[in-house]
Amino acid sequence: MTQPKILVTGGAGYIGSHAVLALQQFGYEVLILDNLVYGHRDLVETALHAKLIVGDTNDRALLDRLFADHAIAAVMHFAAFAYVGESVTEPDKYYRNNVVGTLTLLEAMVAAKIPYFVFSSTCATYGVPSQVPIPEDHPQNPINPYGMTKLMVEQILKDFDRAYGLRSVVFRYFNAAGADPQGRLGEDHQPETHLIPLVLLAALGKRASISVFGSDYPTPDGTCIRDYIHVTDLAEAHVLGLKHLFQNGTSETFNLGNGNGFSVKEVIEVAKQVTGREIKAIMCERREGDPPALVGSGEKAKNMLGWNPQYADLEQILKHAWQWHQHRHG
Ligand SMILES: NC(=O)c1ccc[n+]([C@@H]2O[C@H](COP(=O)([O-])OP(=O)(O)OC[C@H]3O[C@@H](n4cnc5c(N)ncnc54)[C@H](O)[C@@H]3O)[C@@H](O)[C@H]2O)c1
Repeated sequence: MTQPKILVTGGAGYIGSHAVLALQQFGYEVLILDNLVYGHRDLVETALHAKLIVGDTNDRALLDRLFADHAIAAVMHFAAFAYVGESVTEPDKYYRNNVVGTLTLLEAMVAAKIPYFVFSSTCATYGVPSQVPIPEDHPQNPINPYGMTKLMVEQILKDFDRAYGLRSVVFRYFNAAGADPQGRLGEDHQPETHLIPLVLLAALGKRASISVFGSDYPTPDGTCIRDYIHVTDLAEAHVLGLKHLFQNGTSETFNLGNGNGFSVKEVIEVAKQVTGREIKAIMCERREGDPPALVGSGEKAKNMLGWNPQYADLEQILKHAWQWHQHRHG
């Protein structure tokens, strides 16, 4: 047995890797579990220098061994599949990975008496909101299997707290964006579906254009509005959530959003200014299931955890993402 560590599942992925960086900055020792289906071994090796265990949350025997070999104080769980469209066409894949995989992990934690869990949920659990900014007590009616998998885990966590005393902090993220301000890490999803990296790949000439899905929404310029939250601010919230649990805090759920929305057209305009490049946008039909506006109130996290986002400005988010994309894809 060694000094207590934090297990970060999905720590070779986009948000998980930034959380590892934040944990290390706050002095925690970290162990990463990632099956590398989407994660990047090279970033773990160059930027994180943390031990990487290549394995799956569905592998109960591996989890039991891991918990026996290491003194794990808490688990931060980022590992999941997160392609909304794919979750509609292959729901089995999503229920197995996101729900069964998480249940397997939670059962292994209970057996190993690991009491704290921090979970990546999503604003997709709200479905089409009836009010913005969305508060945490807004009804949850997901409109795709991806959102449903996250809602199911939220329910499992409530039941595990009641039955086994497993305490959790659930974070419902809005749109994670940006990159480590020092340029060590950033977003590199393959395939990429998120607006900001797609816009920047178009600026780099790696894509011919960017498709704008719908320009007839009831928003000021007709395009969808989303709340972009800097990944470094997200990562910091996770460290604060962990601290809350270590200080004997109760299980809680927090939105992580800036309370500020930007339209697709606005994002493209700011990206043109930041990059100094032309970005060709093609107007397309609406996609099914895209709410006109998703904006989240982060007030509860600010008040209860002392969360203080440093990079709420869209230009700053794009500058950091641009620095990363030029380095990674330029
Ligand atoms: N990116 C966003 O804007 C956003 C918004 C809301 C919620 N989330 C949630 O945040 C989490 C992280 O998202 P991301 O954008 O960093 O995704 P990502 O794909 O970059 O990271 C997920 C990581 O988990 C790993 N993984 C997946 N299934 C696994 C399993 N069964 N066992 C072990 N490793 C596994 C992948 O290889 C990958 O490295 C996900 O749970 C996602 O649903 C993301």
